[in-house]
Amino acid sequence: MDNGPIEKYTSSVGMAHRRDYGQFFTPFDVAVFMCRWAVSHGAKEIYDPSFGLGAFFTAAKSIDPLVSFRASEVDQRILDFYFQTNGSSPALHIARENYLSAWNQSHSAIVCNPPYMRFQLFSNRDVVFSSFKQHLQCSLSGYTNIASAFLIKSLSELLPSGRLAYIMPLEFLNTGYGKAIKSRLITNGLLKALIRINPEKDVFPDATTSVGIILVAKDGTASPVKFYTAPNLSCLSYLLETNPTRELSSHDLKPEDKWLKHFDERHSNFKSRNLVTIDTYGAFNRGIATGANEFFAMSRSDAKRYHLPHATFLRCITKSAQVKKSIFTEQDMNALEAGDFPVLLLNVNGAVSGVVADYLKYGEECGYHERYLTKVRTPWYKLEKRTPAPLLFGVFSRERFKVIRNLSTAVNLTCFHGFYPNLFGKGIIDVLFLYFQSRSARRLLELNMRRYGDSLDKFEPNDLNQALAPSLDWFSRLSQDAVAKALEACRQGNPLPAYIDEMFDKLILEAEQQHPEEGTARRL
Ligand SMILES: C[S@@+](CC[C@H](N)C(=O)[O-])C[C@H]1O[C@@H](n2cnc3c(N)ncnc32)[C@H](O)[C@@H]1O
Repeated sequence: MDNGPIEKYTSSVGMAHRRDYGQFFTPFDVAVFMCRWAVSHGAKEIYDPSFGLGAFFTAAKSIDPLVSFRASEVDQRILDFYFQTNGSSPALHIARENYLSAWNQSHSAIVCNPPYMRFQLFSNRDVVFSSFKQHLQCSLSGYTNIASAFLIKSLSELLPSGRLAYIMPLEFLNTGYGKAIKSRLITNGLLKALIRINPEKDVFPDATTSVGIILVAKDGTASPVKFYTAPNLSCLSYLLETNPTRELSSHDLKPEDKWLKHFDERHSNFKSRNLVTIDTYGAFNRGIATGANEFFAMSRSDAKRYHLPHATFLRCITKSAQVKKSIFTEQDMNALEAGDFPVLLLNVNGAVSGVVADYLKYGEECGYHERYLTKVRTPWYKLEKRTPAPLLFGVFSRERFKVIRNLSTAVNLTCFHGFYPNLFGKGIIDVLFLYFQSRSARRLLELNMRRYGDSLDKFEPNDLNQALAPSLDWFSRLSQDAVAKALEACRQGNPLPAYIDEMFDKLILEAEQQHPEEGTARRL
């Protein structure tokens, strides 16, 4: 489609309106690809649940000028703009309605770029969820976003032999709420292919999540699901004729598993006696969530101002940026405190009186006891108990993980996950720290991370606990001298020495060579 009308529309309504309705527009080539899929069984009518400026109608007409097109669209403003610009067409029937409450329809070809907005902005969620329960006997998690709800509903509306193509953020493939969606996709072999689009910015310049195309055919056959990664949009036209990155039978695709890893060409089931999951050595836990950092965390001068004694506090890393080097010592913590950073965490235990009681009263006057987290705690100011964790892992990362060897007595807030070793892990904290910094760890950990698009990666503690690491036996091959030298380099603020990276690379190579399914070496 010519981009002129989109630009004119965008400047006439502004970004806030577009965001409220989740309005992003499908590029013409992508819309053509999706329509081709949807009508390839000979359908003469296409349905789009969220019409927008008619990207799919334009694409469908370019494939078959006689196609009949039905659509829903909730926003009167975008419809007015569309008809003013294009006029009406006998082949086009649009209902101005909220698709999520328009039940009892069925279609033989569905194409959709559903509105995308975070679940918090999904208004009347409760009403929608209860109607899903009533019509589809489906209980949706509170985290389900509007795009996922569209997809579940459309799947239920496909006629036998029908086909569907959806373009939407793919984060549901790796998150808990996505389990219900994945389960519906693989039931009766509906899902045929998933295509991750790289770079996503071409499709949704303003969105911040990974985007992909979901291809479904209700053909009654449970063929293997193909995972593709499209390096650019122009390759879409022949992508389905190429070899997929992976092909998995619906038997091997479990709804509770994370599926994003299947787009990764480098992924193979690393199975080796030299690799174990991190939980062999202990567990990562989330840092302390205070519910009101501005009340609980303060600087030395703030503490003085409120006359609060030092013994009322735990020393605490409250922001990721406070840690500059990969080895964090007690001296570093002293420097932060002396530099008046907010690294004192109010830790009130037992009876309260005097200045502490005054400060808590002040907190109540400011309403901190009514916050989301504080109001469910008894008493509201009692924090979770944590001991200092010897290894810290940054929750969000771009390009590189932030892994810290914590030699200080500081605890940490939620900016880091803390590793608490068990008996096996206690003796290998230093080598685990080196491993986490290596490029091999990055490759193995990537298989478990959540990608938020725009290169922003996130880990939950359990993602880390399930990630792979060398076995104790393998670690024992590292010479103490090499480890000591590498630690010294990190202490000086230098990057991990190349020889450590090379040692861990060898580990992965061995694991690949031992890959039980393939028998031959695969290259990362
Ligand atoms: C991502 S845009 C896609 C527009 C167009 N189909 C395209 O591909 O370019 C989603 C559209 O859905 C509309 N929409 C939002 N919520 C809706 C709802 N509950 N029912 C129907 N349409 C909705 C928005 O106004 C927007 O036009």
